Amino acid sequence: MTSKGFYIFNILLLISIATLLYAIRLPINTETKISWGYPKDSLFNFTELTNEYGYSSQEHTVVTEDGYILTMFRINKGRNCNGKTKLPPVILMHGLLQSSDSWLDAGPDAGLAYLIADECFDLWVGNCRGNYYSRRHVSLNPDTDHQYWQFSVDEIGYYDVPAMMDYVLDHTGADNLNYIGFSQGAGTFFIMCSERPGYCEKANVMIALAPAARQTNTGSILYRFIMESVYTIEGILKKTSVGEILPKGSFSQEFLAFFCQLNSMTGSICTTVQSLLDAYHPGSVSNETTRVLYGHFPAGTSVHNMARYGQSMMRNDFAKFDYGKVHNLELYGSEEPPKYNLSAVTVPVVTLYGRNDGLVDVKDVKWLLKKLPNVVEEMAVSDALWTHLDVTYSQYTRTLIFPKIYEHLQSNSYN
Ligand SMILES: *[C@@H]1O[C@H](CO)[C@@H](O)[C@H](O)[C@H]1NC(C)=O
Ligand SMILES: *[C@@H]1O[C@H](CO)[C@@H](O)[C@H](O)[C@H]1NC(C)=O
Ligand SMILES: *[C@@H]1O[C@H](CO)[C@@H](O)[C@H](O)[C@H]1NC(C)=O
Repeated sequence: MTSKGFYIFNILLLISIATLLYAIRLPINTETKISWGYPKDSLFNFTELTNEYGYSSQEHTVVTEDGYILTMFRINKGRNCNGKTKLPPVILMHGLLQSSDSWLDAGPDAGLAYLIADECFDLWVGNCRGNYYSRRHVSLNPDTDHQYWQFSVDEIGYYDVPAMMDYVLDHTGADNLNYIGFSQGAGTFFIMCSERPGYCEKANVMIALAPAARQTNTGSILYRFIMESVYTIEGILKKTSVGEILPKGSFSQEFLAFFCQLNSMTGSICTTVQSLLDAYHPGSVSNETTRVLYGHFPAGTSVHNMARYGQSMMRNDFAKFDYGKVHNLELYGSEEPPKYNLSAVTVPVVTLYGRNDGLVDVKDVKWLLKKLPNVVEEMAVSDALWTHLDVTYSQYTRTLIFPKIYEHLQSNSYN
């Protein structure tokens, strides 16, 4: 890297870390962005993106038992699907700080939502509480009620995943469905299986992409540093009523969206930072995808959820949030937080993981696989450099991970 590049890189790093801690909003309007040359895909939402590329989609609203209002998108017609879609429906769930749009950012030749819809599956793409599509509640106001932000994967798994499954089953009249979860989207499914008897069995197959359960061996120093810092200062942030972190429209997201699309030099700085956050896989994420993805990422979550990740990196199990002995006793009836019961994950599980994943380490995936009672297949992606974020953003998903996903969806579907 040139010295100038290195200088800018350091500044970027400082700005990112500093602004990470603030949820300052700085929305810039769309016309301005178009005049600045932003690629239109980075400005489009799910509906607009799918329409642009010849897919037909619908927007659905799901209300959880605890009042959170979530948005799901259904791609009911792929580009070449003129007949009926296959049954049963498929749910696709994003990872931490992502949204349904993350599955589209790599474009119609690589975005997994497009690839799945192209095979005529009835695809439902979820959004967990707190991101820009699911930042609503029946009675709480996310802007003013701190209570809204008191959630982590513990609640996403307990409430959001079952609510989305119930909705999809009710709406389609199907008896069961197939579930694909990436990272947090997989970990929260396992939480549901442990805590909500009867739900796990509603899936024929669960395809876990780089599943985030135990995170003891997370290799990325920068990611660990960020998460553990948030954990350390959660108490202070709570006093200042900052409950939300990295929402769309915040200074950090707007800065990334602007900076990463600017030119090839700034784009490559973004690629480098992304490699530091995860792991290095040269050429995997196309320049076009880098220009687009920061229009939808980070998509926002709670400080508490980020702190939860920081805490789990300091533990060697997959347990509920540790609030300290006194509060644990009140909340859980035990001084230690209860471990999730992975024996309850009775559904057939297919796992795909990368050997160069800086966020969910192979050692933790192996630990998880030993605990799961019904693993039908585990596959390390053949490319030894496959990272965590490659699952959503790589230009090589079609050849490296989609065939395995397709094989298991197909064998669990009918026309
Ligand atoms: C997506 O954008 C369209 C056009 O601007 C808008 O009508 C629609 O409400 C948006 N959908 C969501 C879920 O934000
Ligand atoms: C991105 O652009 C840079 C500079 O134009 C080029 O060197 C690089 O090969 C491109 N990367 C990919 C993945 O296309
Ligand atoms: C865990 O789940 C399994 C399967 O549902 C059940 O048999 C077992 O009793 C559970 N263990 C605990 C500690 O709850």
